[in-house]
Amino acid sequence: MASSPGRPGNLPAEPTSFVGRRAELDQVLRALERARLVTLLGPGGVGKTRLALRAADRARPLFPDGVWLVELSGLRAPESLPCVIAETLRLPGRRVDDPAGFLADRLAASELLLVLDTCEHLVHACAMLAERLLTAAPGLRVLTTSRESLNLVGEHLVPVPPLAVPCPRDGTAPTGSAGDAAPLCDSVTLFAERAGASSPGFTVAPGNHAAVCALCRRLEGIPLALELAADRLPAMPVEEIVERLSDRFHVLTGADGPYGASWTGGRRHRTLRAAITWSHDLCMPAERMLWARLSVFPGGFDLAAAESVCADGDLPADELVDVLTMLVDKSVVRFDPGAGRYQMLDTLREYGAERLDEAGETGPLRRRHRDHYAALADRAARERLGPHESCWTRRLRSEEGNLRAALEWSLATPGAKASGLRLAVALLDR
Ligand SMILES: Nc1ncnc2c1ncn2[C@@H]1O[C@H](COP(=O)(O)OP(=O)(O)OP(=O)(O)O)[C@@H](O)[C@H]1O
Ligand SMILES: [Mg+2]
Repeated sequence: MASSPGRPGNLPAEPTSFVGRRAELDQVLRALERARLVTLLGPGGVGKTRLALRAADRARPLFPDGVWLVELSGLRAPESLPCVIAETLRLPGRRVDDPAGFLADRLAASELLLVLDTCEHLVHACAMLAERLLTAAPGLRVLTTSRESLNLVGEHLVPVPPLAVPCPRDGTAPTGSAGDAAPLCDSVTLFAERAGASSPGFTVAPGNHAAVCALCRRLEGIPLALELAADRLPAMPVEEIVERLSDRFHVLTGADGPYGASWTGGRRHRTLRAAITWSHDLCMPAERMLWARLSVFPGGFDLAAAESVCADGDLPADELVDVLTMLVDKSVVRFDPGAGRYQMLDTLREYGAERLDEAGETGPLRRRHRDHYAALADRAARERLGPHESCWTRRLRSEEGNLRAALEWSLATPGAKASGLRLAVALLDR
């Protein structure tokens, strides 16, 4: 799904196979025809980002100036939003006094689709900016993903449900669902695909069909929860996963939870949380430690960064790659071999950040993260204006999320202004 050469845009290739969502895709595309701001709404791990990327790819022919993805999960400072968008769109020039006005002017005559992924922690800033840009640029459409609506007049909300789960009676897809004509419904298909990848030779057959269906129902069809469960297969059979998860869910998702059973967003959140906690509990201590520590990288990372930031006496550098590989096998971390980079899904990163806080390691780890990227910024400053300029530009671009996070940490920490300045220069130089 990577953007075709010569066409503007920056949609990434999809990391894994895509399942179902025919009806939802049609719904998003119809919404984009009618409304200029469309928000895909749903709890963590339900599949908003994947659906947005698919829909954006399908919508590409409608936008001569391209389809642009702006990933906001690593961004903490709302005032940086216009700059991040302008930088992602590679708009030349800048106006320090009014970055939103600059962006509005530059986009005024553009016909493009802006995909703002992960808006929930910046809803207000996203709403204000979207309103301003949509007023200034009649050819612009905005597609957002969020756990909360932007609450704007004219915003078209598309709720993203989990994947269809099988009927308790016979395991078929529920009547009226997108999976009607298929022998398996979408949650079962997703589980089977991920299970086949983690446990080669695995198929859904009459002998395990009932257990797989029970598992998909137990996990309420939430894609991320299904993926985490599928990665347990090499260690235990499906029947045991269902049994252990069910025990676990009685403890963690009793009907009297904080949100009440009727609020499905809340219930699904608890289901996913229970699945993540279960997955976390089954990790070895070193894997848990690395999971927590890697949460300081909002923008993905390479092995050298993981080693320099996360290794210490408790987690020696020469063992780190093995522990990291185990986290990749468990789908906690994803590896992109083309880019040579690792990435963690937001929901799993947030979970890791909570564990890091509990361990009292957030401060030290963020300092090491800042030191690593300040050193990278220094090297860039020394080596960039030489034969490797384009390499450095690419590198700094891929580290944008990390440079920004390191800069924010420096600005918020007394005595860290000098490194902040070096990081700011590196960000400007990209
Ligand atoms: N239709 C789908 N087909 C295949 N995989 C999917 C599908 N939907 C979601 N997934 C997988 O499930 C996981 C969670 O999906 P995604 O990241 O899109 O969720 P999200 O709603 O954006 O979560 P968050 O709120 O944390 O950003 C990912 O690993 C994704 O690849
Ligand atoms: Mg997402």
